[in-house]
Amino acid sequence: MLGIIGGSGLTQLANLDVSHREVVRTPYGEPSGPLTFGSIGGKQVAFVARHGYGHTIPPHLVNYRANLFALQSVGVTQIVSVASVGGIRSDMGPGVLVAPHQIIDYTWGREMSFQSGGDGPVVHVDFTDPYDAGVRQLLLESARKIGESVHDGAVYATTQGPRLETAAEITRLERDGADIVGMTGMPEAGLARELDLPYAALCVVANWAAGRGDSVHGIKFSSLEGVLHEAMSRVRRIIEQVCEA
Ligand code: HPA
Repeated sequence: MLGIIGGSGLTQLANLDVSHREVVRTPYGEPSGPLTFGSIGGKQVAFVARHGYGHTIPPHLVNYRANLFALQSVGVTQIVSVASVGGIRSDMGPGVLVAPHQIIDYTWGREMSFQSGGDGPVVHVDFTDPYDAGVRQLLLESARKIGESVHDGAVYATTQGPRLETAAEITRLERDGADIVGMTGMPEAGLARELDLPYAALCVVANWAAGRGDSVHGIKFSSLEGVLHEAMSRVRRIIEQVCEA
């Protein structure tokens, strides 16, 4: 079964033929909300809205462990994570879709491992390539088949939030090699790897990052919603095509 984690702008999947919802409890607490089960084009899908269905859970308080554990416990075998980001690289402006290939983690104070000590030998998972190559290719090929353009590869900087970055912070991230910036990429991807769950992200650039493009004097929230709304309809079509594969 395919698992989809929806971010800002994607709290439900309009093209999901819903069969039921289920509250799943985990040893790590409750996920962001009940899981929504259904099918898209005949393929079974489980969906969870990362920030809750009413978008009430900020990035630093999302129970990433519970979301991933719950999805795996109901039989999810691969995950597409949808997230909105800010664009740093000059060809990654608002409305662009990106399948990142790398992550830099600047978050802190989040529950970022299923290993809590004392419950078996320490395991160091390999994270050289943080996203699953198969799920990334599936995303890219599905987009190509329906003529939607998705950038193949970007370095995703995950910041702590919930505040946005300063212009100097974005300059530092750029120096570090980051192309896009968001607040939820980690620990989500690392936890998926600990569970050995193939996981890849489809990111929607919602705005120019602080100090870039039309955010040079501040990020204007007025245009954000429109950009996300339009881009998420392309994301939905891509997910539909993923389900055809
Ligand atoms: N910074 C961090 N996270 C984000 C941004 C941003 O500019 N836009 C959407 N998520």
